[in-house]
Amino acid sequence: MSSLNIDWSNLGFNYIKTDFRYISIWKDGKWDDGKLVEDNMLTISEASTALHYGQQCFEGLKAYRTKDGSIQLFRPDANANRMISTCRRLLMPEFPVERFIDAVKQVVKANEGFVPPYGTGATLYIRPFMIGIGHNIGVKPAPEYLFGVFCVPVGAYFKGGQTPVNYIVTDFDRAAPKGTGGVKVGGNYAASLLPHEEAAKEGFADCIYLDPATHTRIEEVGAANFFGITRDNKFVTPVSQSILPSITKYSLMQIAEEYMGMEVIERDVYIDNLDEFCEAGACGTAAVITPIGGIKYKDKLHVFYSEEEVGPVTSKLYNTLIGIQFGEIDAPKGWIYTL
Ligand code: PLP
Ligand code: COI
Repeated sequence: MSSLNIDWSNLGFNYIKTDFRYISIWKDGKWDDGKLVEDNMLTISEASTALHYGQQCFEGLKAYRTKDGSIQLFRPDANANRMISTCRRLLMPEFPVERFIDAVKQVVKANEGFVPPYGTGATLYIRPFMIGIGHNIGVKPAPEYLFGVFCVPVGAYFKGGQTPVNYIVTDFDRAAPKGTGGVKVGGNYAASLLPHEEAAKEGFADCIYLDPATHTRIEEVGAANFFGITRDNKFVTPVSQSILPSITKYSLMQIAEEYMGMEVIERDVYIDNLDEFCEAGACGTAAVITPIGGIKYKDKLHVFYSEEEVGPVTSKLYNTLIGIQFGEIDAPKGWIYTL
């Protein structure tokens, strides 16, 4: 598809082949120089560890078109560092932060025509990933690795944008207490497919995962982190080593504190104490902030602010976040990278 026939205002979260992607190969103990390529197909060994043993990981970040037509990235260094922590957990080679940012910039520049126009609400979603490749059959780290970056123009992940959606608590776990929940590996998402499908069949946007040890505390909202606003205006978000540390969530914590003067607390959030919150949301790169209308738990739907309308604090957080991302509001130092 050429960028010329894209309906920017009605984009969903779907794959579109853009013009260029970046690839670098790790072999004999080092990364090669990396390059942009046009081919969007990979040819790898049938015995790649990524295919059999899940030795692979990914990241997700976005490029934003600002009012003056320029393009900016939101905290790519944080994604680069999170990929390094994932690689350490899976015994994969680290891709250096500076090279990660450079690869992302190269891909965005090479696909500039796919960065949605300012004002459409759409963005360019960037997907860095790393896979274990090469011939291998035993359960051990791969002999070679491929680091890639491609991009796709996207609209909202959850249809409805700032319209609240409902979630249901699942009995399944997405991660074990000391497993891989805190890093961004594909296996976590494979484990989430069935619970997601069950939630969707019942008419929910996605499911809420409780902590795998006691099933009493909220961990994640599908592929997003949870936050709640208490009745005395505090921003509260769960803490656990099996939650993926969301860059959006840590950004919102800083926004709540520095831009909105709120107290911010990371602590346990008990599923049987949802009454403490007057608003709640799901946050992440893809989800941005998706207001949570209600959560169904044990046959009861707990509604926070409203099932139809976003609450005022969530709305202010959202507007400040996207204001910063699209360059309309001054960002904290170091958050914005221009191309
Ligand atoms: N939790 C999970 C499981 C995710 O996949 C994501 C998306 O990356 C997030 C939370 C949100 O993280 P971030 O804000 O860094 O995109
Ligand atoms: C993201 O927000 O980047 C995600 O990873 C969510 C999903 C598309 C996997």
